[in-house]
Amino acid sequence: MAFGKRSAGAIPAAKPTSPAAAKPPVAKPAIAPPPKAEKPKPVALKPPTAVKEEKVTKVTDRSEEYYATNTTIFNALIDTIDLGQLAQLDQDSAREEIRDIVVEIIAIKNVVMSISEQEHLLDDICNDLLGYGPLEPLLARDDIADIMVNGADTTYIEVNGKIERTNIRFRDNAQLMNICQRIVSQVGRRVDDASPICDARLLDGSRVNVIAPPLAIDGPTLTIRKFKKDKLKLQDLVNFKSISEPGAEILRIIGHSRCNVLISGGTGSGKTTLLNCLTAFIEPGERVITCEDSAELQLQQPHVVRLETRPPNIEGSGEISMRDLIKNCLRMRTERIIVGEVRGPEAFDLLQAMNTGHDGSMGTLHANTPREALSRVESMITMGGFTLPQKTIREMICGSIDLIVQASRLRDGSRRIMNVTEVMGLEGDTIVLQDILKYEITGEDDDGKIIGTHRGTGIGRPRFWDRAQYYNLEKDLATALDALD
Ligand SMILES: Nc1ncnc2c1ncn2[C@@H]1O[C@H](COP(=O)(O)OP(=O)(O)OP(=O)(O)O)[C@@H](O)[C@H]1O
Ligand SMILES: [Mg+2]
Repeated sequence: MAFGKRSAGAIPAAKPTSPAAAKPPVAKPAIAPPPKAEKPKPVALKPPTAVKEEKVTKVTDRSEEYYATNTTIFNALIDTIDLGQLAQLDQDSAREEIRDIVVEIIAIKNVVMSISEQEHLLDDICNDLLGYGPLEPLLARDDIADIMVNGADTTYIEVNGKIERTNIRFRDNAQLMNICQRIVSQVGRRVDDASPICDARLLDGSRVNVIAPPLAIDGPTLTIRKFKKDKLKLQDLVNFKSISEPGAEILRIIGHSRCNVLISGGTGSGKTTLLNCLTAFIEPGERVITCEDSAELQLQQPHVVRLETRPPNIEGSGEISMRDLIKNCLRMRTERIIVGEVRGPEAFDLLQAMNTGHDGSMGTLHANTPREALSRVESMITMGGFTLPQKTIREMICGSIDLIVQASRLRDGSRRIMNVTEVMGLEGDTIVLQDILKYEITGEDDDGKIIGTHRGTGIGRPRFWDRAQYYNLEKDLATALDALD
């Protein structure tokens, strides 16, 4: 059996085998007539509840007085130093130069400081002039997932799935803006009044977004999805209980047997991580092309081409969209196309690619359930201006997407794979989906941690069985399916 080509016509008649699949989704009722106008009852307003005092995580031990001294010395330094010349020096010499001048200023201004305070000050000023300023201690930590700076005085971080406020602050919005500018200029972009929104990447691969005033009302707003040095592997996800052991094995088989997969999930739910994990099962010999808005994926295979979109320049021209990249992939003898995030009309091109010999292609998108993921694809295609009948779009979806993996960030901050769902085919106008496994929440422990299990749905022979067989993986698949709870 060959799996090179697919077509909507090749879709097997949908034979739902699970009770869930047997029930076609109920059509939405026609819009209900508006209820009779009733005289609104007076509602007793609740007294405003006091906002809970926010806990601040101490990330640095700098005091208020320290910040004041820092500002004085920094301003004096800026008046003295030739920034152009400083930029010519290598890091070590620049540091030495700054150190000499700072020590001199401290002496002239008669600032009383301990040696360790002086060292802190020197570090901070060097970070400020040469690096990422107050962000440096946050960037150095590998346990932080996101850094969110909302203007000079407010910085939040995400650690272990929870958002915390920190005591990190910038001297003022000008300093913050300078750092934003430094970050984005490293990848040849700009952020200023004329183009106040900018996506970029730190040199280590962390994904960055900047939105500046006047759009961001309270000062430059910087969001960094931190690059994890040790990318999570599927085994890590098993250790974190994001997926069960047999569930992970099923994902491995899905990756190996070149199924076309959509990874769906909310923001920060672990979609990119999951995509990265799935790509680990691509054979080293395959030619893979990744298309992203800002390159985050880290494929381990030797034969990978990484592509990145380009925003328009200041005159509004020169944009290279995700559609352009995917279309170009088709001319690059690609075997698999991996799309970082599908969010617009490129959905059409990805489906076409999946449908025309690029088996094993994958992409992520924002949706809360597998079914919602498919309606998102449908609306992305419709809104992209393709005048295709709804049924044709659905046939296309069924002919190209094999599976949807749903990720979610639960309220306790943990990330879980909620469903591994197969796209079975079209029954009338409805796409039939079938869960192979799903996560069931059973309760909560004393610490507020959610307890649950990944359960199988009793499917013995999923639709991708033949593919698994083609890659000699059907025995593994049978064992994994049996081992599901
Ligand atoms: N299963 C997991 N367990 C613990 N941490 C995880 C898990 N999956 C992802 N993470 C961490 O959560 C953070 C967000 O993950 P990721 O970038 O994959 O999310 P995303 O859904 O792609 O986010 P976005 O919508 O912003 O693109 C990362 O720091 C990642 O290391
Ligand atoms: Mg992502």
